[in-house]
Order: sequence, then C-alpha cells, then structure tokens
Amino acid sequence: MIGLFRHLFGGDRPDISDATVRDATAIAALHAAAFRRGWSDDEVEQMLTDRAVVAHRVRLGRTTAGFVMSRQAADEAEILSIAVASRARGRGIAGQLLNLHLRRLAGLGTRTVFLEVDEHNTPAIKLYDNAGFREVARRPNYYPHPDGKAAAALVLRRDLT
Ligand SMILES: CC(C)(COP(=O)(O)OP(=O)(O)OC[C@H]1O[C@@H](n2cnc3c(N)ncnc32)[C@H](O)[C@@H]1OP(=O)(O)O)[C@@H](O)C(=O)NCCC(=O)NCCS
Repeated sequence: MIGLFRHLFGGDRPDISDATVRDATAIAALHAAAFRRGWSDDEVEQMLTDRAVVAHRVRLGRTTAGFVMSRQAADEAEILSIAVASRARGRGIAGQLLNLHLRRLAGLGTRTVFLEVDEHNTPAIKLYDNAGFREVARRPNYYPHPDGKAAAALVLRRDLT
C-alpha cells in the first residue's frame, strides 16, 4: 500500500510545468474533486487552447497532483482556479505552484493579479496571504453553501511590479 502511494503521489519532488491540452482530463478531474461546480473535460480543453489563459500543472511521480490557471487581459490577470489533490495537500505544493505561476505571469507582462476566494476557505486564504495577496473588496452572499447560507467572496489583489 505504501509502495502504491509512493508510486502515485510521492517520494518524488513536485515537477511543475506548463499545462497543455493533454492535461485536460486530469485537470478536470482535480477540479471536480475540489469544487462543487466541476468543469467538463471540454471546458478545460477550451481554456487550455485559449491564448489568454496561462496554466501550470504539478506532477508527483506519474500523477498530476495539482494545477493553477489564469486569464490575462492587458496587464492584468485573474486566477481562475487552483487546486491540489486532497492526498497531496499540506506539503507546500500549492505555494510552489502559485509562486512559479506568478513569476511566469510577470514575465508575460502582467502587473496586477486578482482572484476571488470564499471567506471561509482558510487554506486558500493562507496560501494567497503567503503569496502577498491583499483584500481589496468583499462580495457578500456570493458562494451558496449546502446549509442554505451564502459566504462572501473576498476579492484579493497582488501587484507584481
Ligand atoms: C487551497 C489549496 C490549493 C492549498 O493547497 P496545498 O498544497 O495544501 O497548500 P500549501 O501546502 O502550499 O499550504 C498553503 C497554506 O495553507 C495552509 N493550510 C493547508 N491546509 C490547511 C488546512 N486544512 N487548514 C488550515 N490551513 C491549511 C498551510 O499551512 C499553508 O500556510 P502556512 O505556510 O502559513 O502554514 C488546497 O487546499 C485545495 O486544492 N483546496 C480545494 C480547492 C480550493 O479551494 N482552491 C482555492 C480556490 S480560491
């Protein structure tokens, strides 16, 4: 069992690289496992062929264990999504992924990055805080929760220059 886990997820160091359409199925599966509203393989494929979209994926051994995707417009970008497989969380993988992604965005001319995050999503808020994002707005009642209540979205911003 330990051997299988190592084979699938680790012992290996995270290998981060550009995501391509060949990663669409793995990214759609990671997204579906992480969020209530999933993305279909086709949706992900379309995003990965969009020239305005910048995407990275991380592999642990032979397994795609996370991804991050942004859309650029002029000198701004919005992080569309970031997720790490639940079994690979808490090891700093999202931090490394986001760090490399932000450097790539800066290299492509992005000066400001925005994103929205659920006010109750503690791991994500820590991740973004560590990466230098700061809250610039709050959208109340933005994310419906299964208990019938709705959480606010925090709008975060990071300047890259
Ligand atoms: C958010 C997410 C990408 C973080 O991935 P990760 O690889 O576990 O993140 P890291 O290991 O780099 O940790 C980032 C920070 O979150 C903290 N953290 C991780 N898991 C946590 C948890 N369950 N509770 C509280 N903090 C947590 C870490 O301690 C770290 O902060 P620190 O360096 O100050 O200690 C991952 O939890 C995930 O995929 N969540 C579901 C999808 C999601 O919510 N995406 C964000 C949408 S805006």
